[in-house]
Amino acid sequence: MAKYIIKGGSKAQGEVTISGSKNAALPIIAATILNGGKTTLYNVPKIHDTEMMFEILKKIGGKVTKKENKVIIETSKINKYEIPDDLMRQMRSSVIFVGSIVGKYKKAKFSYPGGCDIGTRPIDLHLKAFEKLGINISKNYGNISCSCDRIIGENIDLEFPSVGATENAILASCLAEGKTTITNAAREPEIIDLQSFLNKMGAKIKGAGSNIIEIEGVKHLKDVSYNIMPDRIEAGTFLCMAAMTSGNIKLKKVNPSHITPIIDKLEEAGCKMTIDKNEIDIIAPKKLKAVDIKTMPYPGFPTDMQSIFATILCTAKGTSIIVENIFENRYKYVQELIRMGAKIKIESRTAVIKGVKKLYGANVKATDLRGGASMVLAAIAAKGTTTIENIEYILRGYEKFDKKIRDLGIDIKIEE
Ligand code: EPZ
Repeated sequence: MAKYIIKGGSKAQGEVTISGSKNAALPIIAATILNGGKTTLYNVPKIHDTEMMFEILKKIGGKVTKKENKVIIETSKINKYEIPDDLMRQMRSSVIFVGSIVGKYKKAKFSYPGGCDIGTRPIDLHLKAFEKLGINISKNYGNISCSCDRIIGENIDLEFPSVGATENAILASCLAEGKTTITNAAREPEIIDLQSFLNKMGAKIKGAGSNIIEIEGVKHLKDVSYNIMPDRIEAGTFLCMAAMTSGNIKLKKVNPSHITPIIDKLEEAGCKMTIDKNEIDIIAPKKLKAVDIKTMPYPGFPTDMQSIFATILCTAKGTSIIVENIFENRYKYVQELIRMGAKIKIESRTAVIKGVKKLYGANVKATDLRGGASMVLAAIAAKGTTTIENIEYILRGYEKFDKKIRDLGIDIKIEE
């Protein structure tokens, strides 16, 4: 397992270009199945999770040609409808393929995606949405089969605004007969990107970004090329890197309107930001002020930023309260921060963070993708050297992370 070695104590200063969004790219890659033709994608982040999606596409008969962040995908020769078990286990978000496979071929098979490091991650809302569309679901020995003769548009009301369930319902109903309405839909920007992509293919979808999405089924979807939106969580991560090191970073190729809750909280903590159309320049104070955070579905404060923001509050002036309302087990990183001198108490979904003067370098582990990113920020700000193990978690979601950090003046090395 590879590890980062980071020498702490320097300010993060300079410019960073934000990559394409992991959480927009994954459903869009799955959606390329729907046109049974050719799709050209630009600004695709070269990370482990997109590579896994390409592996699955190839396993079921798709063709993938990659050139840096440009990817050409051909799905005319897809001839399998089962997501390989080992790949599903490695990346539970592969479940996003099911909506497009069953939407296009009226059948799909996959193994029950396990939980992961942040929670059990059930898919009951996905399956209920499929059943509403007339798709028969059968389960045996951990395998789930979907099949139907026709997919008929329906009204789908989500008990919870699940991002994945909203995306899977859209993918399964694009080629349905008639109209589907999703109420209590998730409002994340990645769903707006999926709608824009599918409409460019010839789908008839409206309402993404609101909690009511309407999909008019069409018979055919055409070849398309598309540019993936910037990654709003990577942008938040670099803003927090500046915040934690009293630094000054200019973010390029970012969409500020996607990260308003993060910008508001950083301003409350004492950071100054200049915001342009697709750039943000942040200047951090010597010491941050404590702030309280409650994670909520979009447009609330994103759960993916919870661990990262908690980390910068470890050395803020005062005590901060964090409530994680989305996932039941998203505090695993806290134990690692405590090893570096943080003062944090966890009571079920609430974390109480008492600001300390400094964190100190230590040997720590990445516990999950965003928990791992949090450890990187802590290491950059800490006094002394930190070793972070299990960085494969981090490489799942951050493109060229160590190079971008080095270009901000930080001493970071990768050791295989
Ligand atoms: C997406 O996961 C993101 N992943 C997650 O980002 C993100 O944290 C999450 O949305 C919330 O914003 C991708 O987009 C690939 P959900 P998803 O369905 O779709 C419960 C990262 O770091 N739920 O909105 O799995 C679920 O248990 C990742 O990039 C059900 O109960 O999230 C959770 O408590 C981590 N039944 C809540 O809803 C279901 O059928 C939110 O889950 C589905 C979800």
